[in-house]
Amino acid sequence: MKKVIIINGPNLNMLGKREIDIYGRESLKDIENKCKNLSDSLNFKLTFFQSNSESEIIDKIHATSKNYSALIINAGAFTHTSVAIHDSLKILSCPIIEVHLSNLSKREKFRQKSLITPLASGSISGFGHQVYNIALYSLKLIWSDNENK
Ligand code: DQA
Repeated sequence: MKKVIIINGPNLNMLGKREIDIYGRESLKDIENKCKNLSDSLNFKLTFFQSNSESEIIDKIHATSKNYSALIINAGAFTHTSVAIHDSLKILSCPIIEVHLSNLSKREKFRQKSLITPLASGSISGFGHQVYNIALYSLKLIWSDNENK
């Protein structure tokens, strides 16, 4: 069974209460429940994590290298600013999928630069809470493709 971790950065614990027109009505707990259900049906063991602290996120990324087959990350505002998270992702050899609920290309200029994109296998942005499910399906497709080779 593949072990997958989803890491969420600052302010994502406020989903459902924060800028609903941009981020939607689902809380992070709703998203976690949906991801857990989908992971069960895809036969993944899922860990779902959120922190507002850069150092806790980095510690979790370090733990990923030993314990997980893939990382899905929504680093929130740290996406645009954190060289430290960028450097920690460089240590990983597993697939990294970057997700954002909102479509960053349509937003303010400062959100259009991501320090995570260059290190990700791919990025999914703009489909609201479904970005997490799309990322999980992508992993399933990538891994089944590799098994068939
Ligand atoms: C976000 C986009 C970021 O720019 C923002 O700071 C967030 C959420 C998204 O999911 O769309 O906190 O990562």
